[in-house]
Amino acid sequence: MDRYERLMEFSRRRGFLWPSVEIYGGVRGFIDFGPLGTLMKHKIENKWRQFFIHRHAGLIFEIETPIVLPSKVLEASGHVEHFTDYLVECLSCGRKYRADHLVEQLTGIGGVESLSMDELNNIISERGLKCPECGGGLGDVKKFSLLFKTTIGPYSGDIGYCRPEAAQGMFLAFKRVYEACRGRLPIGIAQIGRVLRNEISPRQGPIRLREFTIMEVELFFDPEDPKCPFFNEYRDELLRIVPQSQANSKVFEPITISASEAVDKGMISNEWQAYFMVLGRKFAESLGIPFNSQFFIDKPPKERAHYSAQTFDQVVKLERWGYVEIAGYAYRTDYDLGRHMVFSGVDLRVYKQFDTPRVERLTRYVPKIDVIRGRLGEKADGILKSIDPSILEEAFKRDGFIEIGGVKLYRDDFNVIVENVEVKGKHILPHVVEPSFGADRIVYAALEYAYGEKNGRTVLSLPRDIAPIQLVVLPLVSKDGLPEFALKVYRLLLDEGFIVDYDDSGSIGRRYARADEIGVPIAITIDYQSITDNTVTLRDRDTWRQVRTSIDDLPSKLHKYFNYKLSFYELGVPFK
Ligand code: GLY
Repeated sequence: MDRYERLMEFSRRRGFLWPSVEIYGGVRGFIDFGPLGTLMKHKIENKWRQFFIHRHAGLIFEIETPIVLPSKVLEASGHVEHFTDYLVECLSCGRKYRADHLVEQLTGIGGVESLSMDELNNIISERGLKCPECGGGLGDVKKFSLLFKTTIGPYSGDIGYCRPEAAQGMFLAFKRVYEACRGRLPIGIAQIGRVLRNEISPRQGPIRLREFTIMEVELFFDPEDPKCPFFNEYRDELLRIVPQSQANSKVFEPITISASEAVDKGMISNEWQAYFMVLGRKFAESLGIPFNSQFFIDKPPKERAHYSAQTFDQVVKLERWGYVEIAGYAYRTDYDLGRHMVFSGVDLRVYKQFDTPRVERLTRYVPKIDVIRGRLGEKADGILKSIDPSILEEAFKRDGFIEIGGVKLYRDDFNVIVENVEVKGKHILPHVVEPSFGADRIVYAALEYAYGEKNGRTVLSLPRDIAPIQLVVLPLVSKDGLPEFALKVYRLLLDEGFIVDYDDSGSIGRRYARADEIGVPIAITIDYQSITDNTVTLRDRDTWRQVRTSIDDLPSKLHKYFNYKLSFYELGVPFK
């Protein structure tokens, strides 16, 4: 058994995670979190909230929006058209493969994710690639939508899709949050929630899932004022970056550079993007993933999502899977708001007041009424009334036309008047930077980094603030009033809000071992001395050293310990 298999066996046995639908033989791409895994995942999500939301109180706001979205939303976002993988089918046994992965598996070619359909077809035919299962010939490569499709209500025409990212709910809610919470830029919206992606053939256990939890921020800023007010604090922090030229190499050689230098040299497109990358690096470190085991890959244009002008993947080294993405940092520009503005006909711009009025050249579009009436007849008047002039510029820039009531109007249908006017402010479409994290992979990565052995026993050295169980209370023996005393300490700690186990079965050594195995940072032992002087011993999971302390001080000291305000040795006096 390799380390991954041992960790998965351990995760099943102790209740962290396992494949879903086990009693029906399982279904690839779905996992269950057990009791300990669920506790740990919630702690990681809450830690992410601390890093990405709460420390920006008043500027980044968390919301919750639906998983199912009407088709119009994902047509507007570009996902219906672009959120696809390439599929190839064996003409003999009917097995279906993700075409780029199959090409990589059979040829060893790197960078397959950027290959086009034609390039994949050419490689398959030129190299005579065959089905690895039965040796049969392969058909033509086709596009396969990764969206899970459904209907909303009983009418088959009302198509809905399960969201593949939480982002779209935040773009749809942008205007509401902006008006309700801040009324100015920059502003961020965050969301943690389930997303679904119908992967063709996920084979990497908890790493590639069809349903998973995403943790995302959409940070909206003025493109003419891309300053991040938090950047100064982090400008000297280091980032390890793999440039685009190396993105598809087998061996990466990251460049170590400060955040400010990376922005100044144009390697990172703006301060917000760099700020979130530093935060993401620190977040991963706080989960036990060291600086040297993670870096950021600057993705080449063909490998970026359709909405992104610059994407960095944050990858961490995993034993079986190599470098695996745990987060993506995309500069989405005004792509999403612009598309939703055009598709919904609703103005999503915000008003920016200038410090002093400016003279600007403005473009106005005046409909050529006779031309439009001549082409559309009696429909024309209704259509002319429903034109929102504020979205024309955006629509022409993006699509070359505006569609109203199923009819397309083109730039030539308007007289374009450019004039100098004094303006006090203007409507702008914010730009967006998005850090997006996969929570399930992060739970797995944190488990893998914590999973170790000491004297032939498993010890899960999780950082103390993500360990699912914080404390275990152990009476040294099950007699002479020790269990009763221990239960009082146990209840005291529960009342203080700690997550605590109580264990009185088996030898003390076996009980310590059981607690170490699931990563309980501190074991509290009640012995004969406890009854006489109201003290307990505390045992550290990682060093197995012990200190003795008074029960009266225990809650306040432990709160400080779990907030990293006290070290283990500051909890009491050395014992034994
Ligand atoms: N919103 C990030 C992603 O779709 O991966």
